[in-house]
Order: sequence, then C-alpha cells, then structure tokens
Amino acid sequence: MSRDKEPFPYEALSLQALWGLDESLSLTPQDKRTFQKEAFVFRAPQTQTPPPTARTSAPLGETPHQAMPLRTVPSFSTKAPDPSKAATLEELRALMEAFDGCELKQTATHTVFGMGNARTPDVMCVGEAPGADEDRQGLPFVGVSGQLLDKMLAAIGLTRQKNVYISNIIPWRPPGNRQPSPLETSLCLPFIQRHIALIKPRFLVLLGGTAAKTLLQTKEGIMTLRTRWHSYACPGLEAPIPTCVLFHPAYLLRSPGQKRLAWLDLLKLQEALAAGAPQ
Ligand code: URA
Repeated sequence: MSRDKEPFPYEALSLQALWGLDESLSLTPQDKRTFQKEAFVFRAPQTQTPPPTARTSAPLGETPHQAMPLRTVPSFSTKAPDPSKAATLEELRALMEAFDGCELKQTATHTVFGMGNARTPDVMCVGEAPGADEDRQGLPFVGVSGQLLDKMLAAIGLTRQKNVYISNIIPWRPPGNRQPSPLETSLCLPFIQRHIALIKPRFLVLLGGTAAKTLLQTKEGIMTLRTRWHSYACPGLEAPIPTCVLFHPAYLLRSPGQKRLAWLDLLKLQEALAAGAPQ
C-alpha cells in the first residue's frame, strides 16, 4: 500500500510501537484504569468524529467512528475450573486450554504449558509469563532470556533435556510483555500450584520477583528472598519442596552487574542438589 495514497496515521502508529504497543485489541481506545471485570459498554467518542470529508473510505477494513454503534463487550467468565481435579499433566493442560477466565488468553497465540523432564526432574523452574518467542513457539523460555537461563543451568550441570522442568506463573503472553496484573496472577495461580504438585520436583527455583512473590505469597522483595531457602507447600503435595529464588534472566540481561550475585545463588543450589537438601 502506498503511503501517499492512503491517509493512514503511520507516524502515530510508529509512536505507539515505540511505546511498546504490539497488539490491537479494539478499534476504540479503552482506559484500562476504569476497566470492569463485568460487561462494559463503550461508545465512540463523539468529539473525535472526523469531518465527513476527512475520510471517505475506511482503510484496512476499519469502520469509521461515526458509523460505530453502541456496543456491549461480552463479559468474560471468571469461573475457573478446579485444577486440583487434574490427575495428569495432560488433564491439566486440557483444563488450561479450555479456560477462558483470563483475558490474556484472547491475545495470546499459544497456551505455554511447560517443557523439560516432567518425570523425574531435580529442579522445576517457574518464570513469570511467556514473551513473544515463547508465544510463537508455545514453549517456555525459548527466547534470549531462555538462552541465558540454559547457560546458567548448564553451569551447574542442569539441562531441560536431562533434569529440569520449566513453566511459568502465567501461561499466556501479556501484550507488549507487560507485567501481569494481580488479578491475572491470582486467576492463574491454581494452575501452577497443581502443575508443581504433579511434577513434584526435588527443588523448586523461582525466577524473578513475580514468581517468588506469587508462589511464596509474600510482599518481600527479590533482594531479600534470594538470600535464603524457602519451603513451598500447596494442596496435593505430600511434602514441602525446598525452594530458592534466583534473579530472572531478563533482569540479568538488563543488569549484567548482578551476574556475580546470580552465580553465588547458583552455587548455593548446586551445593544443595549434591547434598540432597539445602545446606
Ligand atoms: N520470561 C518468562 O518469565 N518466561 C518465559 O517463558 C520467557 C521469558
């Protein structure tokens, strides 16, 4: 399409892309601060109606504002299935794929479930949420932070092919890689709790503040949480799992100066793995 012929606001679009917008959810802007869980109604802003001469045809199949009717967006169901009913990973995956209570699923390409040794893992790593590469491939930690995670694990003799299983708190990519909201994490929490109970790893590794705070149900910051061992318990687990908190690899990519501390944390994990318990 030629830029000269089409009166399309490319400059405005590139500014939004620069700000991190990468998904179009609706033709009308919505103020998420006033977003209700229940059904909500929006009306095309009358003051912004373009004069009739400004646009004679709607580009890209878009309906002009003046023609847009009052529209009700269907409410999404917040009724979650009971993941504790899932007896196997396959059943859990099917429950998650059938769950429509989290709006992140509407913009995601895949439900990113888990990957690695699901039978006898020494370590289960839990991250925050898939990014663009993970969403495209349907697998956790396959982008640049995944590559760093693999290197970190390999440095202490762990690989997802052999002795590690990897998943996330949230199985659907948040648009623009934004941080998941408290509502989104609480909606997804029962799924990852069941996931951990079914995998039953020897050790649990929580990657970054969101995973640590959500699963340990604490407001403490990662700088404090990473300095000690925790004990993770949830319904369906016969015994609590020794748990440590590591910096998220994406944070280490942004702050390479923290790799020194991350290395000390990995050595602590390696020592516990060799001894069979935190030292
Ligand atoms: N970051 C995460 O927290 N999880 C992924 O799967 C990828 C990046």
